[in-house]
Amino acid sequence: MRNNSFPLKGDGVVVSGAARGIGAATVKNLVEQGIFVIAADSNSALLSEMLQAIDPKSEMTVAVTADVTIEADCQRVAEVAKAQGIRIKGLVNNAAVGAFNMSVETTSFDDWQRVISINLTSIYMMSKYVLPLIRSAGGGAVVNISSIHAFATSTGVAPYAAAKGGVLALTRTMALDLAPDNIRVISIHPGATNTPMLQQHAQREGKTLAELGFPTSDNAIGRIAEPEEVADVIAFALSRGATFITGSSITPDGGILAKF
Ligand SMILES: NC(=O)c1ccc[n+]([C@@H]2O[C@H](COP(=O)([O-])OP(=O)(O)OC[C@H]3O[C@@H](n4cnc5c(N)ncnc54)[C@H](O)[C@@H]3O)[C@@H](O)[C@H]2O)c1
Repeated sequence: MRNNSFPLKGDGVVVSGAARGIGAATVKNLVEQGIFVIAADSNSALLSEMLQAIDPKSEMTVAVTADVTIEADCQRVAEVAKAQGIRIKGLVNNAAVGAFNMSVETTSFDDWQRVISINLTSIYMMSKYVLPLIRSAGGGAVVNISSIHAFATSTGVAPYAAAKGGVLALTRTMALDLAPDNIRVISIHPGATNTPMLQQHAQREGKTLAELGFPTSDNAIGRIAEPEEVADVIAFALSRGATFITGSSITPDGGILAKF
C-alpha cells in the first residue's frame, strides 16, 4: 500500500538556501504545484526579491531569514513552519557554499570548519528541528542536496567533497532511522548547474564557464544543467511518484558518472 510520505496541495515544505539558484527554482516549482513553501535563506534582501517575483501576494510562501549554521535560526525556521497551521510534509536541505582552490594543505582550519558547517552540519541541524513537524503530519520526505563530488571529484575541493560525501552517508542513516515514521530521505547529486554559485566562481577566476572546462568533456548530454532541471528532480523526490524511494541517491549529472 502506498504510504503518506508526500505533500498534497496546501501542505507545506521547508526549503533552505531558497533565495537563488536551485533553491529558488525549487520554491517556484513547488508553489506552481500548490504547495506552500517556508523559504529560508541567510540573504534576506535576495530572498524577499525572489519571493516577490514568484509569489507577489505572499499567499503560498513565507520568508525566514536564517543562517543554517546557527542552531537558534534553524529552530526558528521550524517555529515559523509550525505557525502556518498546515501539514509540513517535506524539508529540502539545499543551502551550501561552493569551495574552490581548497586542497587540504591550502585550507585554513576556519575555512574547513565553515564549509563543513554550512554544507553538512546544517543538514543535521535543520532536520533535527523540522523532523518533528513532518512526523506529526504522518510522514513526508527529506531531500538532501549533495553533489557528484560525493562519488567522483576533482582537485581543489577538499572540504566541499568531504561535506558532500558526508551528506550521502547521512542520508542513508537518516533513512533507516526515520522509515518507521513514514519519512523518506533521499540525496540528490547534481553535476555542474547554471547558478550564481558556479557563475560567481567563473567571475572570480576571470574566465567563462567554457574556459573553466564546463561542461566537462565526459558530460554525455554536452551542457551543464539549468536549475529548473534539478528542481524537477527535487520535486519528484518529494512527490507521490517517489513513495518507495528512501536511503538512496538520484544523480542529475548529464551522464558524467557514466564514463570512466
Ligand atoms: N551549482 C552547481 O553546479 C551545483 C552542483 C552540484 C551541487 N550543487 C548544490 O546545490 C545546492 C544549491 O546550489 P546553488 O548552485 O543553487 O548555489 P547558490 O550559491 O546559487 O545558492 C545557494 C543559496 O544558499 C544560501 N546560503 C548559503 N549559505 C547559507 C547559510 N549559512 N544559511 C542559509 N542560507 C545560505 C545562499 O544565500 C544562496 O541563496 C547546494 O547544496 C550546492 O552544493 C550545486
